[in-house]
Amino acid sequence: MGEKSILDYETVDLDDNDNSVVIIDQTRLPGKTEIIRLHTAQEIWDAIYLLKVRGAPAIGVAAAFGIYVLAKGIVKESGGEMEFEDFYEKFHTQKEYLDSARPTAVNLSWALNRMDRRCQMAGREERKSIQEVLETLHKEAVEMKAEDIRVCHAIGENGLRLVKPGDGILTHCNAGQLATCKYGTATAPIYLGQERGYGFKVYADETRPLLQGARLTAYELFSAGVDVTLICDNMSAMVMKNGWVNAVFVGCDRVAANGDVANKIGTSVVATVAKHYGIPFYVCAPTSTIDLHTPTGKEIRIEQRPAQEVTQMWYKERMAPEGVKVFNPAFDVTDHELVTAIVTEHGIARAPYEQSLVDLCHAHSQPG
Ligand code: MRU
Repeated sequence: MGEKSILDYETVDLDDNDNSVVIIDQTRLPGKTEIIRLHTAQEIWDAIYLLKVRGAPAIGVAAAFGIYVLAKGIVKESGGEMEFEDFYEKFHTQKEYLDSARPTAVNLSWALNRMDRRCQMAGREERKSIQEVLETLHKEAVEMKAEDIRVCHAIGENGLRLVKPGDGILTHCNAGQLATCKYGTATAPIYLGQERGYGFKVYADETRPLLQGARLTAYELFSAGVDVTLICDNMSAMVMKNGWVNAVFVGCDRVAANGDVANKIGTSVVATVAKHYGIPFYVCAPTSTIDLHTPTGKEIRIEQRPAQEVTQMWYKERMAPEGVKVFNPAFDVTDHELVTAIVTEHGIARAPYEQSLVDLCHAHSQPG
């Protein structure tokens, strides 16, 4: 048997016997593949905040497994029997805590709210016992992971219709398997194309300051045998001008109702340059990333991160003067005018997004 590739590992998993969320520590990649187990609320929160697990869908699934593990802990601490309302008060506190780890990716609160709704329904409406409530939460979290895999595969099929064999594709950050449970979002068309012999040529932006493009996207695509070329963020205009890029595919952390999209810092630069060169700019997003309650990109809260990520974190020594002011937003908002289409699991939305996003979400909304 050949050596295990990074794609053979689960990005996020649950060990029910060990009461832990199991993840690949993505801060160690590509040098070291370290699998870590998260047992406590603090460990789960830290793993999300420190980007040990990152990427909107993966954060959502990690939080769903996380709140289930914490729910089990609450019941265990009480000796196995407790009133639902006493349980729920503690459950809700833990849920709010996990939700505070990162603000921009809507999948975090989406996943936790879904677990919360399921919990309340089981305990209050269906009047299940505490053990049955736990079973319900377990089922819901496991289903969310399975759903993520189906959703990403469907995004891949829909995205593949937008490109042709031999095309050049540019991507920014990591919206790959490491950001989801399988296939990725922006990389799903690339992986499906790879299986079908499309022979894409992929350009991966390195993605300053945390280098998700270099450390994660280039790594996972290269491991899969995709023809991938790593470029610095400031080279995308040149590769586009050279005619090497037929389409841009990026992932997304939150889509506002008007089609503005928040994604990794630098995405809006790529979109602006793509527009200049007449290259289609596609945003790949599960419908769980569409936030119809946020009217425009202006209302999306952008996470600000520590200055040291820019000045020294990835260098042997500090690369900026001590005390210099640093601006380090983790995400930016790409205006909807720059977005050619939003590729979801249910189909492709195009402008006017106010209408097409509502149509897509409502046509497929589930009760509950
Ligand atoms: O800060 P990160 O690494 O979590 O940012 C990730 C991104 O911006 C991804 O493009 C986005 O979450 C989509 S992942 C399918």
